[in-house]
Amino acid sequence: MVRDKSKTPTRSLGRKTIRATATPRELMTHNPDLKDVWKAKVITLFPNAFPGVLGESLTGKALQNGLWQLEAIDLRKFGVGKHRNVDDTPAGGGAGMVLRADVLGAAIEHAMDGTQGNWPLIYLSPRGAPMTQALMQDLARGDGVTLLCGRFEGVDERVLEHYGVQEVSLGDFVMTGGEIAAQALIDATVRLIPDVLGNAESALDESFSSGLLEHPQYTRPSEWQGRAIPEVLMSGHHGRVAEWRQEQAQKITRKRRPDMWDAFHKRPVIDPDG
Ligand SMILES: C[S@@+](CC[C@H](N)C(=O)[O-])C[C@H]1O[C@@H](n2cnc3c(N)ncnc32)[C@H](O)[C@@H]1O
Repeated sequence: MVRDKSKTPTRSLGRKTIRATATPRELMTHNPDLKDVWKAKVITLFPNAFPGVLGESLTGKALQNGLWQLEAIDLRKFGVGKHRNVDDTPAGGGAGMVLRADVLGAAIEHAMDGTQGNWPLIYLSPRGAPMTQALMQDLARGDGVTLLCGRFEGVDERVLEHYGVQEVSLGDFVMTGGEIAAQALIDATVRLIPDVLGNAESALDESFSSGLLEHPQYTRPSEWQGRAIPEVLMSGHHGRVAEWRQEQAQKITRKRRPDMWDAFHKRPVIDPDG
């Protein structure tokens, strides 16, 4: 059945009108910029990889509801010549191909055009600083981000120098492209934007936010494979539950992440009475 889109019900969010049936992909590609809404622009050779998993669940719903925006910018469109080439052989020889500075430059100029406020330009790269919750918190407080996804052997270094690009890594391993890292970064940032998570408290509570890893979680059944839920969690005593969780968080952090445990002890203690 061909649906007449003009008859699809609409609803207003105060800043624009969207069709109630619009999918994350439609929202991503066809909608005008929403004022004061955090936006991720992603420069990629694979725009169809977006929104990908970001179109699911809470991030997908939030995208649909205009709580954040996504624009995938097709790097191929900035390619040179009849075949829209985006890469060439590495200067000095060696294996693989490198994304060209002129092609990347044109895509970056296009992506950054009209961006305002706190809007960093990030290249996803195994050479970059590791992604952290602190980075995501910074990004979520900003106005948006432009992400550059590399492919092949990476990008021409001059582009990184010229635009002062920040390099960020998903971890100490090498993937074939930056798209998965970009989605990880966007997911971790978008869930910190107000109203994206149903329960606002859950972002405050979880690993890294307090400087500790999270305590263990349990749910029904109360016994499984001969293992019972710790008694204190069934006690209904909120004070004891909170104390137990804090103890567990400290124990796990001390054991698994001595670096975090060290930093936790060195953090400045804030006096609530000023
Ligand atoms: C095959 S990799 C290039 C690796 C590069 N030759 C090197 O040794 O550092 C291709 C692209 O994947 C992305 N990538 C690979 N591993 C990554 C990681 N751990 N974090 C973020 N991006 C990564 C980057 O955008 C990179 O340009």
